[in-house]
Amino acid sequence: MRRQASREPPTGFTTVGIDRRRFLIVLGGTAAYMALRPRLAAARKPPRARPPLQPWTLPDRAPESALETARALIGAAILAPSHWNSQPWRFEVEDTSIRLLADTRRALPVTDPDGRWMMASLGAALENLLVAARAYGLRPTVDYFPFEGAGDVVAQVSWTGGDAPRDRSLFGALPRRRTNRRGYDGRTLFPQNRAQISAQVPESVRLHWIDDRDALRPLADLAYEATKSQVLDARAEAERYGWMRFGDSALERGDGVMVDALEMGGFAHWFAGRYFDPNSWFLRFGAESAAHQARDAIRSGGSLVLLTTPVAGNPQWVVGGQAYERLALKATQLGIAQQPLIVPLEVPRIRDELVRRFDAQGEEPLLLVRLGHAKAPPPSVRRAVALVTSYRTS
Ligand SMILES: Cc1cc2nc3c(=O)[nH]c(=O)nc-3n(C[C@H](O)[C@H](O)[C@H](O)COP(=O)(O)O)c2cc1C
Repeated sequence: MRRQASREPPTGFTTVGIDRRRFLIVLGGTAAYMALRPRLAAARKPPRARPPLQPWTLPDRAPESALETARALIGAAILAPSHWNSQPWRFEVEDTSIRLLADTRRALPVTDPDGRWMMASLGAALENLLVAARAYGLRPTVDYFPFEGAGDVVAQVSWTGGDAPRDRSLFGALPRRRTNRRGYDGRTLFPQNRAQISAQVPESVRLHWIDDRDALRPLADLAYEATKSQVLDARAEAERYGWMRFGDSALERGDGVMVDALEMGGFAHWFAGRYFDPNSWFLRFGAESAAHQARDAIRSGGSLVLLTTPVAGNPQWVVGGQAYERLALKATQLGIAQQPLIVPLEVPRIRDELVRRFDAQGEEPLLLVRLGHAKAPPPSVRRAVALVTSYRTS
């Protein structure tokens, strides 16, 4: 019998004929591997130690000692939102009083030249502190800018005990409040929810609402335009980029905004380090992605609110920040998502146009906030109470 000539090569290796389908599968697999490689590498790395403090929990009742009470109140304050999560605050404790100071090393002078968003962030921290004090059954009093010539002391809060607990529902929302940058589902707010949110704001601050879809669309286009021009502005973008956090750097530093939290889709998410680097050729793509995201964010929202103060000034912006925080806490309690959007207010021409469309001429715009419905994101990072507090002994 004639032996059939073997087709196997003498080496013993098996050859696989590569047809077009197989070629595409191999190509696709290689591309996916290349794209996922940084993540796979990260997954293989042993987990880094996290900061020891878990800030997103608070004691439910006032602690026994004055010192522990002060620490709990500051623990509530640091959960506040802040411009780029810069946390521009310091606290000084003396007996039953706490001074809230501006940490001006954490200012963003290019995008916040008059410091209004730093003051609003401090106002939000102050409001958290007061909500916790009231919920603990304390009676707090506030002195705004108590020392002439010492503008960095924003407020002094003193308290006495023995009051009935108040603000318990807002207190419950403190650790659950988030800035939600996800796409919302387009549903508008129920009128009763809108009324409850508006009721949180004192008379010295005004809320202007727009929730009509046709009226929201041109505002979304203005946000697109403002975002694009701000990302392409090298100085503004360099400042923002300094507060963006890549990899584990947010956990190590306890501040800034993680790229994941920016909810950028597609390439912008994967290549954020290049897309938002002010010195990169790719910045043009980052500007386009961020602008699209700002536009879609407003289009998907249920309502847009412009929060204004009667005049410009540090005390007004602190009170405005307090009002915003009460709005955000009430929204959280009602299961409503919210996100401040200030980039449109950073561009003078667009800010003026927004004020006109909200019918708020003659008022000072502080924050634009979108509200709606979406799944809550994870919490952001914070610097621990111990890092931002000092104690005075009398
Ligand atoms: C005054 C102020 C301005 C802000 N501006 C924006 C903004 O334009 N866009 C945005 O996505 N978040 C904005 N934020 C939200 C912060 O980025 C956010 O509070 C911070 O990253 C911490 O995250 P958290 O609010 O989820 O705790 C702003 C917050 C404050 C207090």
